[in-house]
Amino acid sequence: MDNSYRPERYNSHTSGMESDIRSVGWRSPSNIALIKYWGKRKGQIPGNPSISITLSKSFTETVMRYSPARPGKGRLKNFIFEGSQQKAFADRLRSYLKSVTALYPFLPDYDLSIESRNSFPHSSGIASSASAMAAVALCLTSMEQQLFGSPSVEDSFFIKASYAARLGSGSAARSVYPGYVLWGRYTRIPHSADEFAIPLNDLVHKDLREMKDSILIVDEKPKAVSSSQGHSLMHSSPWAPVRYLQAADHTRRMIRGLSSGDIEEFVRIVESEALTLHSLMMNSGQGYILMKPGTLEIIQKVRDFRNDTGIPVAFSLDAGPNVHLIYPGDFADIVRKFVEQELLGSCSRRQWIDDRAGRG
Ligand code: DP6
Repeated sequence: MDNSYRPERYNSHTSGMESDIRSVGWRSPSNIALIKYWGKRKGQIPGNPSISITLSKSFTETVMRYSPARPGKGRLKNFIFEGSQQKAFADRLRSYLKSVTALYPFLPDYDLSIESRNSFPHSSGIASSASAMAAVALCLTSMEQQLFGSPSVEDSFFIKASYAARLGSGSAARSVYPGYVLWGRYTRIPHSADEFAIPLNDLVHKDLREMKDSILIVDEKPKAVSSSQGHSLMHSSPWAPVRYLQAADHTRRMIRGLSSGDIEEFVRIVESEALTLHSLMMNSGQGYILMKPGTLEIIQKVRDFRNDTGIPVAFSLDAGPNVHLIYPGDFADIVRKFVEQELLGSCSRRQWIDDRAGRG
């Protein structure tokens, strides 16, 4: 396991014992879904299993300070994001913390103060709830470990953090692990579960372990439709049952492809998942078109490039216009040239993030 890409515990120490303030800290990367989580049931239970790769450069760094409060009167006193108060996210965190008291029953007895920053610009359109909520859940689990010595086993630590992260944002459940991650019950993978994610790296063929994700920023604006809105549209979508069947089939084929190193199958499924997500949105509610002209220009050029060169670059999309190019690390140099020469013209202010996934 290459630890440099792991969500990283970088500041877990006790400071100022005399004032009784202690702190924990985590750096947790964002992830890109290969099999998309789209649609959920009550309790943040996903409509289908999803598979993602956790990135490395695009991360949230969070430090949580805590001190004993009057029993039952503890609260989140401060939330500072990149140097300033952020009320909207602070409110979201307060209700999140309330919702996880059954998991962390000591929380009402402590005052918390949280500071956070993202490595990527706020305006880059990269989903930050996955990395942000994963970092918070990891901090809470570390706090429990500092206070009570549990969870004492590494596996249980990450299962608990992933479980808690899921309650903050579904995709965050996957961001507590590096590399390939599966979230959702899939009968052929023992220990897979709807309530938490598990790492998949051990079954991945060596040719597919070191993947790149070049993120092309077509539009920097925040998402036109929030994920929660998007998920809820699936409740009334006539396509939902078919989509869940397709996702199950894609999960089965993706796992088989990852084990055998079948990059062509990988590319087929990743692109089909991206296009399915957008077709579901086009067929939901008022009919949301989340791609921009630049998105389509890039998709066309990526397909031409793949046909001309045989280099297996797949495009993926989140619920927005930005394009992720996913490909084996061996092709990094040639793809970088392709991006710089052919694709940056379709990006907002020629912005892109040359990210990579962790290695299993
Ligand atoms: C399109 O995890 O952001 O990125 O659980 O409501 O917070 P909530 O949704 P969220 O949804 C992510 C949707 C997606 C696909 C994916 O990451 O699997």
